[in-house]
Amino acid sequence: MCGIVGYIGDRDVYPILIGGLKRLEYRGYDSSGIAILNNGKPVVYKVKGKISDLENFIGTKSKEGTIGIGHTRWATHGEPNDVNAHPHTSMNGKFIIVHNGIIENYATLKQRLIKRGYTFKSETDTEVLANLIEYIYLFGKTSATEAVRFALNKVQGAYGIGVICTDETDKLIVARKSSPLVVGVGDKEFFIGSDATPFIEYTNNVIYLDNDNMAVLTKGEVSIKTIKNDAIEPNIQTVDFDFDEIEKGGFDHFMLKEIFEQPKSISDTIRGRVDYSRNSIVLGGLMPVMSKIMNARRIIIVGCGTSWHAGLFGEYLFEEYSRIPVEVEYASEFRYRDPVINSDDVVIAISQSGETADTLAAIKLAKEKGATVLGICNVVGSSISRETDAGVYTHAGPEIGVASTKAFTAQVMVLAMMALFVGKAKYNIKPEKYSELIDELIHVPQQIETMLKDTSVIEKVADIYKDSPNFIYLGRGCYYPIALEGALKLKEISYIHAIGYPAAEMKHGPIALIDEKMPVVVIGANKRGYDKIVNNVQEVKARHGIVISIVREGDTEIAKMSDYVIEVPNFTTAIGALITVIPLQLLSYYIAVKRGCNVDQPRNLAKSVTVE
Ligand code: F6R
Repeated sequence: MCGIVGYIGDRDVYPILIGGLKRLEYRGYDSSGIAILNNGKPVVYKVKGKISDLENFIGTKSKEGTIGIGHTRWATHGEPNDVNAHPHTSMNGKFIIVHNGIIENYATLKQRLIKRGYTFKSETDTEVLANLIEYIYLFGKTSATEAVRFALNKVQGAYGIGVICTDETDKLIVARKSSPLVVGVGDKEFFIGSDATPFIEYTNNVIYLDNDNMAVLTKGEVSIKTIKNDAIEPNIQTVDFDFDEIEKGGFDHFMLKEIFEQPKSISDTIRGRVDYSRNSIVLGGLMPVMSKIMNARRIIIVGCGTSWHAGLFGEYLFEEYSRIPVEVEYASEFRYRDPVINSDDVVIAISQSGETADTLAAIKLAKEKGATVLGICNVVGSSISRETDAGVYTHAGPEIGVASTKAFTAQVMVLAMMALFVGKAKYNIKPEKYSELIDELIHVPQQIETMLKDTSVIEKVADIYKDSPNFIYLGRGCYYPIALEGALKLKEISYIHAIGYPAAEMKHGPIALIDEKMPVVVIGANKRGYDKIVNNVQEVKARHGIVISIVREGDTEIAKMSDYVIEVPNFTTAIGALITVIPLQLLSYYIAVKRGCNVDQPRNLAKSVTVE
């Protein structure tokens, strides 16, 4: 949700800003802009549209300089246009800022500034912050750094900011609260980014700024303080990064690359955690809280979107293998309804980005109420991974496509490992069953690889139904969250309306929608309850619905009633059932491509949702 980049050093700043923004474009892509200091004189360019539009707009205009900031936007306050795009310059031109997050009390602050003679060009909360900083600087006669600090003490909400002062052109000031901000440390130079991807080819030494901290960067020095003015020792960490992971690698889209990467990403998720020879699972990240987990009265899983679907799938695994009762909640609902939480509850927060505002707020609430909070995150060093008591990284690698694919399968694999780990420790799984489950778990990558060899049926179905205005997805048991995930993938990237439903619930309402034009995707790979899903398919066929079924290879019953059959390799347990999501990811991908949609950057969406 908005991406920030910046640089101070001796290099030419323009390629660093543009290259960095392109890497961050997944975070928001409705408008973008940069500001560069050229011998102390600022130039600011900003336009509606993509980074390529910004590049075209700048063309041969002046862009020399070695200090600058840039921003790619996902609109919150004010529609996407040239004026609302960042950077924002304060009324008297003293401060230029880029901002990710929301200033919640911006309306009150704006009114106060208007009374003091300030005028505003944009509808954004960011311009309010720029003017507030400037007002404090001019009328409080403080330094730029102090003006930023005082202003941040007055704002409520979330921010990751990069600030340039046109009077103090030797520094770049950055700060964060509930929005990510990473400082890249080079040799007498510093980079800033919403994550490390914009500058990873220059340095892999980073400082993850903590909440309420600000850093002042000059060419040779970094100084970090809290916004209450307490000094903080910089903690420089090294990030491991495989550069190929953030390139398309010959695929047309990041989403397709990420779908095809799943055999590898899942292997990375389980590597070092499943000990094949000893037939055991080791999750080092959970050791500090193991007794809490073992004695948990209840597990509450929170997340949003696809991560919430992973949680729903995890509920089946946890209850079956660990026998601990599980509730799964949207983080955004959980946080606002004064939930009953006890100190013997364990809350598991799931998030690819580790920055989702609602999930972070749910974590805070659960901690206040005394629960033990665990995280399942993909982005190392993200806010959620740092706010939780313990956790497990998914290690799926950077996910750039806005629609989550490999992060989902990695999240489910982590939940499966956790469920088995706890189930074994609690003696709830018989040794032979445990071996069978481990065997299935380690074969998931291979199963997916087999499936990805031939996608022709899926492409054919996509071609036939690409213009259908509606889709229904049905599943029972752990295939119900898979149905939800299939429907979400389709709507977010192809803009086709789709609903996911528990198959048996269909007769309580949605069945009214079925006619000869309605494609119904049925995940019919159940062993337990197979007859029931057969009945559901019959109900659809009796109303002339079009059945596209996902079945195990060799299936006959459902296959013979279906209009199109997509087979998946055989598996024996709920862990193996995860593979049924792959054809649904591919179906939505091919439909979106055939409809000419922007698969990696669908309209109105952003990869990291740092607003409530
Ligand atoms: C869907 C999708 C979103 C995210 C949701 C939570 O493809 O990507 O629904 O799953 O915004 O994001 P994270 O997992 O980063 O907390």
